[in-house]
Amino acid sequence: MRLLSEGAEAKIYLVSIFGTLLLVKKRHAKPYRASQLDIMLRKMRTKKEAHAMLVAKNAGVSVPAVYATGSDEIYMELIKGKLMRDSAFDRKIIADVGIELAKLHSAGIAHGDFTPANILLTNKGVCIIDFGLAEPNAGIEEKAIDLLLMKRSLSKEFYLLFENAYAKAYANSSAVLRRLAEIEKRGRYQARTIANV
Ligand SMILES: Nc1ncnc2c1ncn2[C@@H]1O[C@H](COP(=O)(O)OP(=O)(O)O)[C@@H](O)[C@H]1O
Ligand SMILES: [Mg+2]
Repeated sequence: MRLLSEGAEAKIYLVSIFGTLLLVKKRHAKPYRASQLDIMLRKMRTKKEAHAMLVAKNAGVSVPAVYATGSDEIYMELIKGKLMRDSAFDRKIIADVGIELAKLHSAGIAHGDFTPANILLTNKGVCIIDFGLAEPNAGIEEKAIDLLLMKRSLSKEFYLLFENAYAKAYANSSAVLRRLAEIEKRGRYQARTIANV
């Protein structure tokens, strides 16, 4: 196993199984948590993440295939691509990202961290990763926050392209867009985001 990256919650490893390279996302122990609670939280979050990926895959969203899960790890398809955050991208890619989010929301899932740092660009199209904060039974608010995060990450021009593609592809998009406008008016999400960092 080779360590590929290390985040706040999980480490990413490359592993070769029967000659095929896979990716393992393993949640690490948090020493400040009581160990029974820590084990339980990691298990629940791992299960929730893998479940959201499976539901998304079944709904036709472009996500890595999940091969197996353990109590604190997910074995998944290794996607060859580059993070959207680190890439140049065009209007077609932006529209595709909007369509993928529309499919995800149509399946009842909010991503929870929908930014260019969690989207891979491949030569077969875009692929959504990192379902660690995903909500499989999402309400309008969680869906609106997915849009809000993208709005804060993109130029105005690109955000509008993204939003248009999303709105065309998701039947309930008008309710989500109305909620987004409300959240922005409230100006409350900023405080919440900072509190969660
Ligand atoms: N299935 C995958 N295929 C290729 N690279 C991946 C895959 N999943 C994650 N990565 C890489 O690992 C990094 C961290 O994974 P991610 O799930 O986003 O965890 P974190 O919660 O640490 O952000 C990503 O930014 C990406 O570069
Ligand atoms: Mg991530």
